[in-house]
Amino acid sequence: MNILVTGGTGFIGSHTVVELINAGHTATAVDNLVNSSEEAISRIEKITGKKVPFFKADLRDRDAMKKVMESSRFDCCMHFAGLKAVGESVVKPLEYYDNNLNGTLVLLEMLREYDVKSIIFSSSATVYGTPQFIPITEEHPKGECSNPYGKTKSMIEDILVDLNTADLKNGNEKPWNIVLLRYFNPIGAHSSGLLGENPSGIPNNLMPYITQVAVGKLHHLSVYGNDYETHDGTGVRDYIHVVDLAKGHVKALKAIEENWGVKVYNLGTGKGYSVLDIVNSFISENGVDVPYVICDRRPGDLAEYYSDPGKAEKELGWKAELDIKDMVRDSWNFQKNNPNGF
Ligand code: NAD
Ligand code: UFG
Repeated sequence: MNILVTGGTGFIGSHTVVELINAGHTATAVDNLVNSSEEAISRIEKITGKKVPFFKADLRDRDAMKKVMESSRFDCCMHFAGLKAVGESVVKPLEYYDNNLNGTLVLLEMLREYDVKSIIFSSSATVYGTPQFIPITEEHPKGECSNPYGKTKSMIEDILVDLNTADLKNGNEKPWNIVLLRYFNPIGAHSSGLLGENPSGIPNNLMPYITQVAVGKLHHLSVYGNDYETHDGTGVRDYIHVVDLAKGHVKALKAIEENWGVKVYNLGTGKGYSVLDIVNSFISENGVDVPYVICDRRPGDLAEYYSDPGKAEKELGWKAELDIKDMVRDSWNFQKNNPNGF
């Protein structure tokens, strides 16, 4: 298939372009580079040996997006583009609502105008709110998101479902074809060391913080609380290797091809690891030190959650294959080779 990838130079988008090409698809990337670099395209091309059309464009810019849409006949859009820092979204709600919601609305208008009514959306486990049960299945009700970032994910899911509903009510034979992929905690990097997570400023998330401590850019890791009701008191999450996540998108094309409608899948491993599990595994696998201090809990953090990824396995034939050792090794390999990102 021929896929339009928004956010295609970002962390997850760039890995997905590689896996799409590996699986024999073609991809065009669009990104405004607000949180990534065009260098990602050269690296994708180096890994795959294929040219990847790239457009530097903001999704909210209709004229620029028309040029993108006219460049090729797309079968499907994978929509990764968005701002994603939870803390920043609390400080800059207007910027987050504008970027994520308006960006998506303009994209959807364009897709409709050019009759590309298949979209795979990067959603998040954050839409479940505080879990009522663990592991979290797709039947778990959506919950209250505590920050504007999470709210944009939940609202975009609703907008997409509404588009499909409207088409069904109008008797449209080809209603919007929508896959909502709810990611758990993506970490890791491409095994080549050429692609990885490249956050601007001081990282908010655990793994990029660990790698920057290990490479000497940051002094120590703050472990946010060791008094949770978990096996070692630190927070437990479902970490998933970004290459597995990327492959999940390729498999999701099956759901796009098979029937028109709305489909929701968790993408996780189904296993929970604590902050200290990750730190200790990083140290032992890579032979580097990661000094840390135990601090107060981070406001808004949950003790423990992880996915039930069974639906994706049953319906898409997708299952995460890489384990925690692969994740910590590949994260370090990327950071070591790219101490200042790219
Ligand atoms: P990322 O920041 O690396 O990638 C997002 C890309 O979107 C960036 O390259 C950025 O420059 C681009 N972008 C932002 N606004 C844009 C706009 N208006 N027009 C064009 N490009 C724009 O983030 P990522 O980790 O690769 O995340 C990809 C998607 O997955 C995001 O939608 C994110 O919310 C979602 N997600 C990420 C995580 C995670 O932990 N990384 C978890 C759940 C969901
Ligand atoms: N943590 C630390 N120290 C740090 C950073 C994180 O101890 O410097 C801990 C957190 O307290 C938490 C765990 O590491 O227990 C993971 O934290 P992250 O910030 O890496 O990830 P979160 O689970 O908080 O949230 C991430 C994304 C959200 C997304 C969610 C999906 O940031 O956008 O996963 O499950 F919604």
